[in-house]
Amino acid sequence: MTLVIAIDGPAAAGKGTLARRLALALGLAYLDTGLLYRVVGRRVLDAGAAPSDPAAAETAAHALVVTDLARTDLRGPEADQASSLVAKVPGVRAALLAFQRGFASKGAVLDGRDIGTVVVPNATVKLFVTADLSARARRRWLELQGRGIAASLAQVEAELQARDARDAAREAAPLRAAADAVVLDTTTLDADAAFARGLEIVQSRVGFA
Ligand code: CDP
Repeated sequence: MTLVIAIDGPAAAGKGTLARRLALALGLAYLDTGLLYRVVGRRVLDAGAAPSDPAAAETAAHALVVTDLARTDLRGPEADQASSLVAKVPGVRAALLAFQRGFASKGAVLDGRDIGTVVVPNATVKLFVTADLSARARRRWLELQGRGIAASLAQVEAELQARDARDAAREAAPLRAAADAVVLDTTTLDADAAFARGLEIVQSRVGFA
């Protein structure tokens, strides 16, 4: 059986940390699909265009190469907003779909917003990882501090809220839990506890691991 674990949820809920740890524990490849949208947003900015320009975003999506994922300028407030703006464009999402499905076909953990609903609707296990806005904002704020990016906690919280609202309200592959996803609320869980719970859910779904 090809094991595919789909992890979706709002920004800074702990999806990436959980996905990486599950992939390591289960010997699976891991794809952070948010990076794809971040590269597209960054490429649009590099071209001097606006991330809200659908044609520029689609051109950038078609130009994406895998080595772009190693770029070091994909995080931070500007990249966050740009990624979410280009992610609204149906042509951008369509351009990125085949790569994500190809990656998943060999067995993998993927995290994003639409993995369980659109990219791999027949995934073996679907997790919807979430947490209270204030807990997520604090985590992202600490992360930014660690990277030397100055921002107030209130600013980070407002930015997360705006991005989640845009991601959930868009017509193309909106952020939402698949009907068969298990919700994992990490508000009061640290990374170890979230991993333990995530692994438990996977094990109960697949009966091994
Ligand atoms: O790390 P964080 O949760 O802040 O964001 P991310 O997972 O890197 O995703 C950045 C943006 O890409 C999101 O706000 C979404 O707009 C978009 N995205 C998406 O539309 N679909 C995905 N599968 C993954 C990300």
